[in-house]
Amino acid sequence: MTTIRLSDGIVKDDVLVVGLAAKNSKTTKNGATSLQIESGDVALDTKALVQALSDLGATGKADEIIKIPGTSTRLIVFTGLGTSATHYDHEVLRRASGAAARALAGNSSATFSLPAKNIAAVKAIAEGAALGAYRFDQFRGLSKSAQQTPLKAITVHTDLAGKSEAKAAIKTAEVIATYTHLVRDLINTPPSHLNPETFCKAMSDAVKKAGGASVGLKVSVMTDAQLKAKGYGGIIGVGQGSSNPPRLLNISYTPKGMKAKKKYAYVGKGITFDSGGLALKPAKGMEAMKSDMSGAAAVCAATIAIALLKLPIAIEAWAPLAENMISDTATRPSDVISIYGGKTVEVLNPDAEGRLILADALVRAQETKDLDAIVDVATLTGAQVVALGTRTSAVMTNNAEFSSHFMDVTKETGETFWPMPLPVELRASLDSPIADLANVGERMGNMLVAGLFLKEFVADELPWLHLDIAGPAYNESKPHGYTPVGGTGIALRSLVQLAISASS
Ligand code: BES
Ligand code: MN
Ligand code: ZN
Repeated sequence: MTTIRLSDGIVKDDVLVVGLAAKNSKTTKNGATSLQIESGDVALDTKALVQALSDLGATGKADEIIKIPGTSTRLIVFTGLGTSATHYDHEVLRRASGAAARALAGNSSATFSLPAKNIAAVKAIAEGAALGAYRFDQFRGLSKSAQQTPLKAITVHTDLAGKSEAKAAIKTAEVIATYTHLVRDLINTPPSHLNPETFCKAMSDAVKKAGGASVGLKVSVMTDAQLKAKGYGGIIGVGQGSSNPPRLLNISYTPKGMKAKKKYAYVGKGITFDSGGLALKPAKGMEAMKSDMSGAAAVCAATIAIALLKLPIAIEAWAPLAENMISDTATRPSDVISIYGGKTVEVLNPDAEGRLILADALVRAQETKDLDAIVDVATLTGAQVVALGTRTSAVMTNNAEFSSHFMDVTKETGETFWPMPLPVELRASLDSPIADLANVGERMGNMLVAGLFLKEFVADELPWLHLDIAGPAYNESKPHGYTPVGGTGIALRSLVQLAISASS
């Protein structure tokens, strides 16, 4: 884990990170960018440095990192902030410090002095740096020794260092980074090593390590035998083709010594590998399908983070877990299953499995009395990626007010969501000639059809959000900002922020 400290004094680390911006589209005589060093509260000999940076061809663009030998520190690292501004957006700062932290693997500590004019900026800088200090090398053999260790200690340099709010901000950033890293680790763990049972074990261990009952956390797991006996036909039906049996994991958080201001249920899709089942995916389409449990990891880890932040809100996290495999016991196209509570579904496409396990979990989650809202998080459809790309997640809802509240409060997390409709006219395409519902419908607008399917399992009067994170959950291209290749940990920050907003 990376530790975060604050300082307003002399820089003690041998690495100093500062920002570099391009002055409002101005260029110098020879066409080079006119640069602006943004070193926050640390004074530097900017004139000489700007000349050196200019000679090196620096542009100050996002994700540009330039390391030069320093005089009072061993290294000065310039991280791109884009166009210079009097006030930098939190996400610009978060990404800049994340890119620097990634480039500093192999160093043990660094001081980050970027424009930290308010507490939110301090938090963003700390969070970005800690999120950038990530590595996944558990499965390297002979190449392990060549892997550089991420930064162990981060100091955020700011005039606000003495403020109690700044101390709280870095503590929050530390918790966010620790649990985002847990989500990333679980996503990156191959399905040979992560199945429904080992997922439950990993989360139970994480709850224990966080303090368990002493911080208000409780874990319970339903086995496949129990699920079968109680009629969880979605989870059983999806899991029955695999020799790794399915599970339903519940982590509940009840605040200690204070009254909960709200009670939310968080439900996450936990397919530890999605082969498509008998609607087998082509090999390429399966490559990233170890990430199909990203929603489950996010809701569980967010709940632990919320407990450690001692937020006065109760959370019930539900993770239906199954491996969607192909075998003679797998669900066949046209099989009919019965979701928990009794609604029947004709499974026309076993690759539309996420909605089946979520339906069981959504129904179960609503048995909790006095819920104020329910949020599900899922890598649900390829159509989400087609519609919004790999960095914007979709939000669907039965309550526009709750959805816009979510959009408002999660803005400052840097995670991007975009509202999507649930058009009533698409609902009829889910009608089945023999069961209550079919699991697939109209092909066009597939993300919305999947949302409409889930809506069937949520009470109209309960505010509900469905977050489709199919694209943003897993980064298959290059690292950028604080985001590594592989599992990103998306949605955790927004789930925590939603809980923070409900606490005040
Ligand atoms: N896990 C996939 C969705 C997915 C695709 C996530 C790409 C991340 C990247 C989901 O279970 C799935 O297979 N969905 C199908 C549904 C279809 C059969 C109706 C899809 O979107 O193609
Ligand atoms: Mn699928
Ligand atoms: Zn899936």
